[in-house]
Amino acid sequence: MDMSQVRLAPSILAADFARLGEQVAEAERAGADRIHVDVMDGHFVPNLSMGAPIVSSLRPVTQLPLEVHLMIANPDMFLDEFSEAGADSFLVHWEGNNNLSRTVLRIKDLGKRVGVAINPATPAAVLEEVLQEVDTILVMTVNPGFGHQHFLSSTLPKIRRVRQMIERIKPECELEVDGGIDATTAPLAIDAGANVLVAGSAIFDEHQGIATAMKRLRPERVAPGNKT
Ligand code: DX5
Ligand code: ZN
Repeated sequence: MDMSQVRLAPSILAADFARLGEQVAEAERAGADRIHVDVMDGHFVPNLSMGAPIVSSLRPVTQLPLEVHLMIANPDMFLDEFSEAGADSFLVHWEGNNNLSRTVLRIKDLGKRVGVAINPATPAAVLEEVLQEVDTILVMTVNPGFGHQHFLSSTLPKIRRVRQMIERIKPECELEVDGGIDATTAPLAIDAGANVLVAGSAIFDEHQGIATAMKRLRPERVAPGNKT
């Protein structure tokens, strides 16, 4: 895949929350395509993170789409709140949702883009029925709940299978990967068929700065903001 087609979604989970607005603005200037907001409830995943007020606070700070990754037990309960706060898209998990189609349709009714996420142990086959309805498939490349984890290379064959399924059923659907994405693993995920990269620690923990870190993840990108 041509690197200029690869989208970058910095995950603010790894940002310095005391300087969040500043760091998001810096990521935008450096050519980020969207901002990834990780929402955790301590039930669906063993960690707590942030809620809709973060989205409201960021809304005036950036023009970029705000993508909300819901790692929570009852996503339907929070869709309106995040939507009103200014979310542009939602990523909801297949796991633990007995009414995934209803959740997906509700998000579409809100006029937002929707993606379905699957955990490392979940097979690609579960996406077959829902794929037609969604804008994005998110393949988790770590077990969700924490930043700074190692990329699970066992997910690579699955990324390839999802890419094949997308080409067959809905070629315009995005294939996003999340977890442990850095300069070493990004090319592997892209080679397997991913076209959207979420990265937290590889962007915000880079001592040489956000722009340099982003360049490493997408080396052939010429000018920031030069989207196709
Ligand atoms: C993990 C989250 C990720 C996380 C990625 O549960 O969904 O978005 O922030 O962080 P890194 O890039 O540090 O693995
Ligand atoms: Zn995420």
